[in-house]
Amino acid sequence: MTDPQTSRRGFLRDTAVVAGALSATAIPSVHAQGSDTIKVGVIGCGGRGTGAAENCADSAPGVKIYAMGDLFPDHLDNSRKRLKSALGDRYDVADTRAFSGFDAYKKVIDSDVDLVILATPPGFRPQMIEYTVEKGKNLFTEKPVGVDGTGIRKVLAAYEKAKEKNLAIVAGTQRRHQAPYIESMKRIHEGEIGELVGGRCYWNQGALWHKDKLSEWSEMEWQVRNWLYFTWLSGDHIVEQHVHNLDVINWAFQQTPTRAVALGGRQQRTDPVYGQIFDHFATDLEYANGVHVLSMARQIPGCENNVSEALVGTKGTWNSNGFRFTGESRTRIREMGTNPYVQEHTDLIASIRAGKPLNELKTVAESTLTAIMCRMSAYTGKAVTWEQALNSKEDTFPKNLEFGPNAVPPVAIPGVTELI
Ligand SMILES: NC(=O)c1ccc[n+]([C@@H]2O[C@H](COP(=O)([O-])OP(=O)(O)OC[C@H]3O[C@@H](n4cnc5c(N)ncnc54)[C@H](O)[C@@H]3O)[C@@H](O)[C@H]2O)c1
Repeated sequence: MTDPQTSRRGFLRDTAVVAGALSATAIPSVHAQGSDTIKVGVIGCGGRGTGAAENCADSAPGVKIYAMGDLFPDHLDNSRKRLKSALGDRYDVADTRAFSGFDAYKKVIDSDVDLVILATPPGFRPQMIEYTVEKGKNLFTEKPVGVDGTGIRKVLAAYEKAKEKNLAIVAGTQRRHQAPYIESMKRIHEGEIGELVGGRCYWNQGALWHKDKLSEWSEMEWQVRNWLYFTWLSGDHIVEQHVHNLDVINWAFQQTPTRAVALGGRQQRTDPVYGQIFDHFATDLEYANGVHVLSMARQIPGCENNVSEALVGTKGTWNSNGFRFTGESRTRIREMGTNPYVQEHTDLIASIRAGKPLNELKTVAESTLTAIMCRMSAYTGKAVTWEQALNSKEDTFPKNLEFGPNAVPPVAIPGVTELI
């Protein structure tokens, strides 16, 4: 699901390098510094995993795709073929380093790789992040990094361990590596539009792909292949997609929201093939000092589309749609910079080689929890505080992770579904 604002084709590849967010303090790297080859293991070889592997190989010299793993052998094979033809000798995945099954991730991480790319459905992320950090590997993790409070607590614990081990971690919230966003946030933090007093963010679009159930698939296999529509796998689309926009708002405010009051439901996408998720959400997010931000996330065809963020300050406004400032400066940022899907890997690898590891895991965990908090409020009809979301006992991960039956909870009904 490529975001319209960051479509790969939309970027000039050879313009100035985005001002990196490398940390200022030199810390010894876990990977040998300098220009040694970085061996990459890819876990989750679908659209984004395959794309991220290419982006990573393109992002710096001396990067090799070295091991790969996917739950499904057919996905693994397709991805291997594509990478072999796209990358030439930067693809070095012997058959002995290509794995399938639910434990494929462990085998990839244990394959003498320096850097792991995680691009499975988000429900698997906490266990995979934990194992990556336990084994002392650097990480590129796609967003979101979990789907419930239980998973996010594991990710936050892994963040602390990764800091102790000086591991580099970059997340697929690529706006943080996109030149006009970086320049916008710099100016906003310097006070160009004054004190922030409000904002709004949207991911409103039409339908995405879905997969009908084949008779030879167990319920579990179908759910994982049709993962967008099950909360335990995607977190619902507010978590899976809208996390990008909420991340920009948290970045602008330099804090996380204190409370969410959300509405949502399933108006058009009611067929069981669409699992249990909603097709629309609207949330009133509250930040410190009573500042409110309106968030909307919709996946309904035939409606108005809008993927953007906007801020209101005491001296002007900013909108990511055109990167326009109003108020005193009345300017527009026109320099689009490099492709952020490549730049995020360039920044990650530079930080590893310089021994100054970036670590974005806490930030992306907080943005993911922001989206989870909105979903919890919409599903239950209750106001949900940050603490309630963070300490929630909700644990959506299946007790038996194997191909076979896997019951899913019914579609949530506000006012009936309990807050846990
Ligand atoms: N940053 C972005 O702009 C962006 C864009 C698209 C997708 N994403 C994210 O990337 C992730 C993957 O999305 P996608 O569009 O590539 O989905 P996809 O369905 O194309 O790929 C997911 C792959 O993971 C595999 N998989 C599922 N469970 C697994 C497991 N337990 N172990 C190993 N492999 C497993 C699937 O077989 C599939 O090949 C999601 O988290 C999504 O939110 C980010």
